[in-house]
Amino acid sequence: MLGILMVVSEAIPYSKTGGLGDVGGALPTALAHLGHHVTVVTPRYRGIEEGKPVAAFGRGSWLGAPDFRVLERVHGDGVRFWFVDCPAYYDREELYEGPQGDHPDNYMRGMRPAIVHAHDWQAGLVPAYLKERFRGHPAFSEAGTVFTIHNLAYQGIFGREVLPALDLPWDVFTGEGLEFWNNVSFLKAGINFSEIVTTVSRRYAQEIQTPEQGFGFEGILQRRAGALVGIRNGVDTTTWNPENDPLLPARFSAADLAGKAEVKRALLARVGLDAPGQWARPVIGMVSRMVDQKGLDLIAGAVATGALQALDASFVILGTGTPQYEGMWRKLAAKHPSRVSVTVGFNEELAHLIEGGADMFLMPSRFEPCGLNQMYSLRYGTVPVVRATGGLDDTVTDVDEATGDGTGFKFRAHTTDAMLEALHRALSWYARPAAWRRIQLAGMAQDNSWEASAREYVEVYARARERASRA
Ligand code: ADP
Ligand code: GLC
Repeated sequence: MLGILMVVSEAIPYSKTGGLGDVGGALPTALAHLGHHVTVVTPRYRGIEEGKPVAAFGRGSWLGAPDFRVLERVHGDGVRFWFVDCPAYYDREELYEGPQGDHPDNYMRGMRPAIVHAHDWQAGLVPAYLKERFRGHPAFSEAGTVFTIHNLAYQGIFGREVLPALDLPWDVFTGEGLEFWNNVSFLKAGINFSEIVTTVSRRYAQEIQTPEQGFGFEGILQRRAGALVGIRNGVDTTTWNPENDPLLPARFSAADLAGKAEVKRALLARVGLDAPGQWARPVIGMVSRMVDQKGLDLIAGAVATGALQALDASFVILGTGTPQYEGMWRKLAAKHPSRVSVTVGFNEELAHLIEGGADMFLMPSRFEPCGLNQMYSLRYGTVPVVRATGGLDDTVTDVDEATGDGTGFKFRAHTTDAMLEALHRALSWYARPAAWRRIQLAGMAQDNSWEASAREYVEVYARARERASRA
């Protein structure tokens, strides 16, 4: 049994802008189920209810931060949340706007965690503080640190002049520390000051050591290759399970798929694509940030030539992103109102309806550290069409043209043509109902639960502690 302190800037059910929030909520629960004591340190954003005050800090007690309190909430499964209640920083419309100012490790005194596990650049300074400021502090004398990269594209880069304000000595401003092209990078701090670095799929752990996917960090990561581990995210089956999903109008399972047809009808009615005759057409769903990372450029290419519209399919799209891509979908929906629908916004319920009711789920990502939606799709009998990158490559098996074995359709080249070719293949298999059902069932049978991944984290924690004790 380990005491684990998890530092993460999003955690369901309290906050989420993407997959990080899913992981921040589900991984602590999976670790608690294995018998570990987990405390999650996370901001109290606007709308999160008050908890029990366990500490209060006056202005300036930490790096000149405004007044803040720590509020505690303990869940039924034993996971403890410590919310950093600092209205000046977190009582805002959006999670990440304004200056970065979260240094949550100050509140850890009074417990002796075996493991401190920090996530993404927002928590990247935590390992640096542990090494530089709290080395030898009794609370952390036994702690090993683990840092998880969910997305290398966000590097937390600030001008070197912020260093004194962070209360870190100039000796950390080196290539082995947190200096990155003469700037400060919080992400680099997380990578260099922790015992073990993990990322969210095996494939992505390899990819980020190459110039194509390394975003300038490939050298830094190659240097840490011996301490770099890929552990795929899991599906939180309490929220994502077609057998008891309260956000679906009907339930279904591998043993009985009838409910899925009902969900499809409800989805089409909900988004206004239910004119007579539309029902038989395959529905391609997307729930995604509309940005280049998610392959929206490939879709734009297919829209420009008319190839996307020429597919005999309907499209149900949900997401927010750049005005260019939101506008592209809006225009397409206006032109093809009977078979293209776009909802711009963040909508949990519609996301479940799309996962449940669509026939296929499209993820043409340029890169994808893990990706959660393709795993939800597999579970909901919604066949994923994905680019073979990162976690998409690890979790989807391409359908074999000869045997029909496989769980989805993959393409390798980051081109519009490769994506269209995969979509054409998917549509031709869809036209053969018995073969299609086999593909759906193969996906639904796949086990992507959190349990196995949580066990891998526990092994990584043991290695981190061992390294920390030798240092
Ligand atoms: P990323 O974190 O890169 O955005 P993931 O696939 O890991 O990608 O996770 C995205 C998560 O956010 C999923 O749970 C997905 O359902 C959810 N999501 C993304 N966009 C929306 C949206 N517009 N409405 C509701 N949920 C969304
Ligand atoms: C990031 C990645 C996504 C991953 C998620 C959770 O947002 O883009 O692929 O699933 O983090 O790890």
